[in-house]
Amino acid sequence: VLDGAILGNMFFEPSTRTRISFGASFNLLGGSVREITEAGSSSSLAKGESLADTAQVLSGYSDIIVLRHPDEGSVRKFAESSRVPVIYGGDGSNEHPSQALLDLYTIKKELSQNSKAVDGLKIALVGDLKFGRAVHSLCKILSLYDNVKIKLISPEELRLPERTTHLLKSKKVTLEETENLEEGIKDVDIIYVTRVQEERFKNKDDAKKYKGLLSLNKEIYTANCEPDSVIMHPLPRDSRKDANELDSDLYENPNLAIFRQADNGISIRMALFALVLGVEDQIEKTSRTVN
Ligand code: NCD
Repeated sequence: VLDGAILGNMFFEPSTRTRISFGASFNLLGGSVREITEAGSSSSLAKGESLADTAQVLSGYSDIIVLRHPDEGSVRKFAESSRVPVIYGGDGSNEHPSQALLDLYTIKKELSQNSKAVDGLKIALVGDLKFGRAVHSLCKILSLYDNVKIKLISPEELRLPERTTHLLKSKKVTLEETENLEEGIKDVDIIYVTRVQEERFKNKDDAKKYKGLLSLNKEIYTANCEPDSVIMHPLPRDSRKDANELDSDLYENPNLAIFRQADNGISIRMALFALVLGVEDQIEKTSRTVN
């Protein structure tokens, strides 16, 4: 359905899953991908070009653009000057909505195996809830459902921002906050672990204080969790010894959904492109087996 179309995949910040799965999804729909990575140094932004000019120019070369940028609000600003649709690939510590869509899809799929739905969900969000944009967007999307209970587990200094807790409360989401991992992960359907976002700290040494404080491993899971509690993480997990927020000793646990979750990025991003470009009703007609 996207034969001849071009995606401008613009990543002004490091990315593995988001960049590659957006690109692969576009290719799977028949389109081509042009990209910039490390755009801060390899694009004309390094020569002082404004985001608005970059948007004007790149939208002349692309049918749709995915943008990730370190500044909060930058994607919205870029989109205002773009002549083609812009999909949000993450802006600093603000939002990461396509991750929230694939997380929601994963939650639905995983829970349906235990005959549970998103209405009535009990979820623990663990780690850096202040700078973690994936959890900010996930909270927004979960607030659209009924009877959701969110347990926020983080060090005091890395609590979920006020704007997000405010939104959740206004939507009648039940919130509990704790700094204690063992206590927080009891009696939940999903445990959503996140990485300390050290790149967002003004002083990198400050991030060290929080690494390793909240680490989920097999022993802690077995002692505290329901036997069917699903483990999620937007990835990358920080597997260095001082952090290790999600231990690899959980690898054999069938409830570890992290790689199924990453895989789900393909279906969700294909759906996003098809919907945004208005070709969703042509997919059945044109699809064919990959050679
Ligand atoms: C997340 C991000 O970039 O916000 N990664 C992702 O896109 N899957 C989470 C993170 O970097 O910790």
